[in-house]
Amino acid sequence: MSRTFFEKPVERKTGINPLGLKSFDHLEFYVDSADQWRDFFVKKYGMSTRAYGDTTTGLKGRRSHVVGQGRVNFVVSEPQGDHAEADFVRAQLAKHGCGVRDVAFKVKDARHAYTEAQRRGANSERGLFEDATVSHAAIAAYGDTIHSFIERRTAGEFLPGYINVPGGIDDRDINFAMIDHVVANVDHMDTWVKYYEEVFGFDLFMHFDINTGRSALMSKVVSSTDGWIKMPINEPSSANSQIQEFLDQYSGPGVQHVALLTPNIVATIEEMRRMGQDFLDVPDTYYDAAFDERVGAITENKDELRRLKILVDRDNEDGYLLQLFTKCVFARPTLFFEVIQRRGRSIGFGEGNFRALFEAIEREQAARGTL
Ligand SMILES: [Fe+2]
Repeated sequence: MSRTFFEKPVERKTGINPLGLKSFDHLEFYVDSADQWRDFFVKKYGMSTRAYGDTTTGLKGRRSHVVGQGRVNFVVSEPQGDHAEADFVRAQLAKHGCGVRDVAFKVKDARHAYTEAQRRGANSERGLFEDATVSHAAIAAYGDTIHSFIERRTAGEFLPGYINVPGGIDDRDINFAMIDHVVANVDHMDTWVKYYEEVFGFDLFMHFDINTGRSALMSKVVSSTDGWIKMPINEPSSANSQIQEFLDQYSGPGVQHVALLTPNIVATIEEMRRMGQDFLDVPDTYYDAAFDERVGAITENKDELRRLKILVDRDNEDGYLLQLFTKCVFARPTLFFEVIQRRGRSIGFGEGNFRALFEAIEREQAARGTL
């Protein structure tokens, strides 16, 4: 019925970084209402408002809020006015609904990253912009998603066209440190694995084939050779796969989920639940004997995890992760967020939870006599 396997992590290439990537810089979402989604991230994720831009501050055809916490920066942009750029954003929204347009990376040298990426086979999406504070350019990725390369020469400003928003609401108890990983759903996984290997110099470092009987998917994880940028890429392997549903609903490939790393998932989930964020339903049966056996000894109080419905997956002898997934946040059932905490030498993505969750649901069905 259900099968999960994963290859051992491959021998890592080291020090190979042809584009000079440093980390995720920010994600830009195209949304139907910039104000509404700013409020969403401030109220439910405890983010601060950091910057604002529109046609009066120098943006073309867009109105955008920058919200963030720790090293996480999200830009939520809506179309504004009748500039060609506004029409483009409107067309993207009509096609995909709300979603991630840009997975932007911080780089040492934007001109180099942009030129080298094209030399390695990437297509240009936006030419090089340079001023005293920043250089940036963008290349095309899966579907209508793009990757911007951002080289910052000064600190304290977001980007040209944006003004800082003073004050903002500060971090409360929710505590996101950085983006842990960004997951793509595509129709041809190997095409995009090859793209990240050849253009970015990334390693393919894990491979999952998950079949729960209800939903089948294949996933390969590519990452920067220093391990700081991790991007799982999923492909549907059955017609009823949740990945196929995403591709249908989003009208093509795109970002499926964004995982936010926290140093204290118990406090974070408690606060997000209090602020009204909905999470994936986890049946009580997830926490029965199978849970103890699978997870072994952990630092956290298991009753607390059960109360807050936090999932745990052990990667190896001295590493495990705690995670929980939100429900899909936009009108279409496409994108969701993950809150993740890593303990020890955790390098996985919670693949054991696919199976554990499915089996827990089956035990619940069996208890109700419907299976
Ligand atoms: Fe994830």
